[in-house]
Amino acid sequence: MNADTIDRPEPAAETEWTRFMDDALQRTAAGTPLEVRGTLTRLAGLVLEAAGIRAPVGSQCKVAMAGQAPVLVEVVGFSNDRAYLMPAGDVHGLVSGASVTPAAPYVPVPRLGDPPRDAGDARVGVLRLPLGDGLLGRIVDAQGIPMDHGGPITDVVAEPLDRQPINAMDRSPVREPLDTGVRAINGMLTVGRGQRIGLFAGSGVGKSVLLGMMARYTRADVVVVGLIGERGREVKEFVEDILGEDGRARSVVVAAPADAPPLLRLQGAAYATAVAEHFRDNGQHVLLLMDSLTRYAMAQREIALAIGEPPATKGYPPSCFAKLPQLVERSGNGLNGVGSITAFYTVLSEGDDQQDPIADAARAILDGHIVLSRALAEAGHFPAIDIEQSASRVMHNVVSPEHFEVARRFRAINSRYQKGRDLIQIGAYAMGADPALDEAIRLNDGMTAFLQQGMFDAAPLDDSLRAMTRVISKAAGAR
Ligand SMILES: Nc1ncnc2c1ncn2[C@@H]1O[C@H](COP(=O)(O)OP(=O)(O)OP(=O)(O)O)[C@@H](O)[C@H]1O
Ligand SMILES: [Mg+2]
Repeated sequence: MNADTIDRPEPAAETEWTRFMDDALQRTAAGTPLEVRGTLTRLAGLVLEAAGIRAPVGSQCKVAMAGQAPVLVEVVGFSNDRAYLMPAGDVHGLVSGASVTPAAPYVPVPRLGDPPRDAGDARVGVLRLPLGDGLLGRIVDAQGIPMDHGGPITDVVAEPLDRQPINAMDRSPVREPLDTGVRAINGMLTVGRGQRIGLFAGSGVGKSVLLGMMARYTRADVVVVGLIGERGREVKEFVEDILGEDGRARSVVVAAPADAPPLLRLQGAAYATAVAEHFRDNGQHVLLLMDSLTRYAMAQREIALAIGEPPATKGYPPSCFAKLPQLVERSGNGLNGVGSITAFYTVLSEGDDQQDPIADAARAILDGHIVLSRALAEAGHFPAIDIEQSASRVMHNVVSPEHFEVARRFRAINSRYQKGRDLIQIGAYAMGADPALDEAIRLNDGMTAFLQQGMFDAAPLDDSLRAMTRVISKAAGAR
């Protein structure tokens, strides 16, 4: 039967019919929908198993026990009729047979004449977290709950975390330089708007301080900081000591520290990225600082191993390597040049350990890497950026040919000095034996001073270039 064959009701009857339908819709919306319930059958290590529910992977469920608050869980896999669940909270006190209920699907009450809804809206029990301008200046956990005692967050709407990725062909290329306020980076490793860079470092060599400097001094509209899997104490320190008041006003901090369940650590990274995407899609230039990508991969490893995925490289199952590019690909320039997310991801690596599979994978998917060296940090050289080992793969696209040439010469002279360093230090080098090394020795003090920077000094891009040119030109003059 098609609509044309239905007799149109009389106008009076139509009003009555509309009123009836409205009433029915309101009742349906107010009533409790039929609920499917499963039971908890197993809990081993981190993973829960439930029978009797059929909820899609990625959807949310609640495990309820009489007399205690329900535990939120996410479906992370299944085997026949068993669903594997990962908790987002403490599982203490759960017993076999506890009821498992898929979170009610988000079904807005349809109204006649409504525009067709986004397909994402109809997905069953998909997690939605607060996104919006109201997050600015706030510190939230991986579930969007404020941690800063600043009261409820307003001006946000609950939205799903996973968005449609931007087609690579519709993304604008990285063409504009971004002023990070850090001299060594601005001069030698110039970063482009929309670039994704890895910050490779071991522990205690100045990652947090460097990220903090960028958060304060980078020319960006909004800074989103994802603190994933790091010590809980660091969150407070980062916000109070490193970010400071001015940094905080334009920042959103999402924290999922090490003691959060692995599910929340993954979710924290996805949430921080979604927050950055929100501001990017509003046309703003966003700086996303994610500390750390390694802990994100480790959280995925915990989950994957718990549900029985076989480990591959160094205990990391294949899904870890699939997850990294999925997260990283979400940052970058916006659709057709509107807004951008420039992202720094810290990667834990102990100097010479090139074997770390996450560091390897990250190096391959990022457009540049900045390596922090323990030897420099120990020598009190901060920021401890090892220029020789670091590279920005887009630099030639974002700086003038003159800038590129000065940086190239700086790099060459620095490298010459580093190669001769041992000889020089034991006094085995006689000046005059190698003109290039002589020049490098003459310039070394100036170059070292250029590369160092106090944590509360900002160095704008223009000044960085001028300073670098000055250091290099001394060589030409002296010769
Ligand atoms: N630009 C700087 N100027 C002076 N000192 C610095 C600078 N950057 C870092 N430091 C020193 O290095 C120490 C360690 O820095 P930071 O806490 O940033 O390291 P980290 O790599 O984040 O460590 P962790 O791995 O423990 O998180 C700081 O306490 C500070 O004393
Ligand atoms: Mg740190």
